[in-house]
Amino acid sequence: MKDKFCGGLEKFLSRFPDDGLYAPIRYLLKIHGKRIRPLLALSVCKAEGAPFEKAMPAAIAVELFHNFTLMHDDIMDGAPLRRGRPTVHEVYGESSAILSGDAMFTLASIALEDVEENVLAEILKIYNKTSREVCEGQQLDMEFESQDDVTIENYLEMIRLKTSVLLACSCAMGAISSGASKERVEIWYRFGEKVGLAFQIQDDLLDTFGDESITGKKVGGDIISEKKTFLWLYTKSKGMLPINLTRGLESTDKITQITSAMLDAGADIAAREKMMGYADDALNALYRLDLTPTHHKFFENFVSSVTERTS
Ligand code: IPE
Ligand code: IPE
Ligand code: MG
Ligand code: MG
Ligand code: MG
Repeated sequence: MKDKFCGGLEKFLSRFPDDGLYAPIRYLLKIHGKRIRPLLALSVCKAEGAPFEKAMPAAIAVELFHNFTLMHDDIMDGAPLRRGRPTVHEVYGESSAILSGDAMFTLASIALEDVEENVLAEILKIYNKTSREVCEGQQLDMEFESQDDVTIENYLEMIRLKTSVLLACSCAMGAISSGASKERVEIWYRFGEKVGLAFQIQDDLLDTFGDESITGKKVGGDIISEKKTFLWLYTKSKGMLPINLTRGLESTDKITQITSAMLDAGADIAAREKMMGYADDALNALYRLDLTPTHHKFFENFVSSVTERTS
């Protein structure tokens, strides 16, 4: 499925030049990433009994949209590394990363022009809503950096918006493309939303405890930006976050001290528990879909691949 998607994306991109405005886009897309959002869209469409090709425009759109958010996110987060390579703004400069990101956002909309007419209005509605919500989530993520009264509930709503609605939208667009009923689209959305919450908690765990050579992202970036992750908030709630003592330190020392405080507080264990709770919620939604055993197994394995991922 991944190969089929890559072929579809390449074919779509061949409509556009590959230099100038498009060079940073090619640079970012060249290292694939996991491509979980388009795989969700295509696999859901197939599990609903339609040819996966029906969801190809939606799959291309979600992957382009995702990569657009990454290009801008890396500027916002001051991130030096993405997929094991220097970030787009490091290589091409911030102005190019902003504009090529905008172009990628537009390419995602162009991809949706190929959606079949009978489902186009429904696809556009969910896509636009999702796109707006992702921006809202990113805004909260930034605002929380300088707020010290953020709660775990605030964090969960922030990650629902910045990350999980796009996984939910990918599933829902796959279902809509297949011609599934409103009720089934809704359940697929819930499935994707719960998987997305688990996905971002694991992303936060990997940012602090992951292996840079596998994640391809700089370890400790969230701590340096004082991102209000579950790990941070849980450690703080235990009165064990040494933030005032670490503010004047070199970044490596700050990362080491805060990481060990998080471990002392058991924040990693609590985060994994929270994540597994969402994985269970996703599995419950999956049961309600009553898929064939093969398709059910596929999505069950998918949920495990999200909670066990190392990149
Ligand atoms: C990273 O997404 C951004 C988040 C929402 C956490 P992925 O981990 O899916 O990134 P790639 O596309 O596989 O590199
Ligand atoms: C990114 O969250 C969410 C979006 C891009 C919308 P992060 O900032 O945690 O993603 P990474 O860790 O940089 O991939
Ligand atoms: Mg980031
Ligand atoms: Mg970010
Ligand atoms: Mg992250």
